[in-house]
Amino acid sequence: MAERTPLPVVALISGSGSNLQALIDAQLRGAPIRIAAVISNRADAFGLERARRHDIPTEVLSHRDYGDREGFDAALGDLIDRFAPGLVVLAGFMRILTEGFVDRYQGRMMNIHPSLLPKYRGLHTHQRALDAGETEHGASVHFVTAELDGGPVILQARVPVLPGDDAAALAARVLEREHRIYPTAVRWFAEGRLRLGEDGRPHLDGTPLRAPCLLDDLDARESEAAI
Ligand code: GRF
Repeated sequence: MAERTPLPVVALISGSGSNLQALIDAQLRGAPIRIAAVISNRADAFGLERARRHDIPTEVLSHRDYGDREGFDAALGDLIDRFAPGLVVLAGFMRILTEGFVDRYQGRMMNIHPSLLPKYRGLHTHQRALDAGETEHGASVHFVTAELDGGPVILQARVPVLPGDDAAALAARVLEREHRIYPTAVRWFAEGRLRLGEDGRPHLDGTPLRAPCLLDDLDARESEAAI
């Protein structure tokens, strides 16, 4: 069988970039992606260093250099498009995006969010889950729509909330799962198995998802590449 041309991916980050690292690792293990660039809105984001270590082009575009969100998002879109990505991944990119920007990448932009969406959109998800007395928490990969953390969910991973957990302990447990589900969903997309349907739902292997996929339900072959 002919080798698939790797899908060019642009990753947007603001911080540590551990999810970016999981995607880099997936590429190194043979996922059909090519991380074409990493763009950060912060020059001190450690994820930039991770990219440099793998000779991935990096760019910094500071939102502070723009007077409004529209101006920043337009410049960001132009920068992204220089790398002609088939997929844009938000990997800890701490910016609220304008509708125009989201439309520009409709169906080809994903985000990872540290909660079991639709629960706990926005910030401080781990503390909010603890405060609510949840016994279960997790992370979600979703297509990005104009509604903040409200796009159709593709894949989730659940973790237990354990006695004595604080937000940091819970975040670490969730993050470990994030590093599995993000590469898995990105690989599905790159393999042409996943798309955003015109019905607004993710379609996997030609079937609209009625509910998000769950990491625990994936067979060993599916999740193997993400470990
Ligand atoms: C992750 O918890 C992700 O879910 C959220 O931001 C955090 C980014 O972490 N969107 P990292 O920069 O990938 O380490």
